[in-house]
Amino acid sequence: MAPHGDKSHAAEEAAVSQAENSPISTILIVIAMQTEALPVVNKFQLTEDPHSAFPSGVPWVRYHGIYKDLHINVVWPGKDLSLGVDSVGTISASLVTYASVQALKPDLIINAGTAGGFKAKGAGIGDVFLASDVAFHDRRIPIPVFDLYGVGLRQACSTPKLLKELNLKVGKLSTGDSLDMCPHDEASITANDATIKDMEGAAVAYVADIFKVPTIFVKAVTDIVDGEKPTAEEFLQNLAAVTAALEQSVTQAKIITWFSGTSLKQLTTMWF
Ligand code: ADE
Repeated sequence: MAPHGDKSHAAEEAAVSQAENSPISTILIVIAMQTEALPVVNKFQLTEDPHSAFPSGVPWVRYHGIYKDLHINVVWPGKDLSLGVDSVGTISASLVTYASVQALKPDLIINAGTAGGFKAKGAGIGDVFLASDVAFHDRRIPIPVFDLYGVGLRQACSTPKLLKELNLKVGKLSTGDSLDMCPHDEASITANDATIKDMEGAAVAYVADIFKVPTIFVKAVTDIVDGEKPTAEEFLQNLAAVTAALEQSVTQAKIITWFSGTSLKQLTTMWF
């Protein structure tokens, strides 16, 4: 008779294999800003969940609906309860991702949003990137192994066919809690070999990794970090137009439509 350990291991492997081969059914789209989220919500005709899946009193917002047999959920961390601005950054992103994964058990997470881009690495305003991997650039802990923990490098779910089909750019994403870039952050971003920079990606990846939910990162460039213009000014100037480009990539017969009928195994391995 096989020992208990072997039996449960086999059962676990069977469950993983079944999950990998079943069509993707529930998608969680995590978006930090209302301006970025609403075009996607409108396109899929999603409705706000009045009996939120989240604890009462939190500002987090969930929109949901069915599109091409897929249960689509857009979650947005909402407005800061005291200041009334969008709750951008890693803390809100990780909290809302955690609560959404618990409540909705998604097959796949898409973290969509805007990013700063580095022209030296080939990024331009309006470009939409699929991140190959994500890491932090503002968690410096110069002690062996803690240094790696701080960087928190994680791979995005590899989607070779999707990448080819959608003709998006690919690059590494670096995450930190500031819109600007101080010299220390710049050194870490260079060490991360990043082409784009945001304020949520690696935090979403951290939570997704705990629960082993495959995640992709779709980021549209609003500002050129190594350019002439001040970042905040360029970001605000381009936000509306670039958000439209992001919505096109996330919806319009593109990413989401593509998932319909696709299993995780097909998503991560197949070239047709
Ligand atoms: N989102 C858009 N532009 C950004 C930047 N320059 N840094 C971080 N997040 C961003």
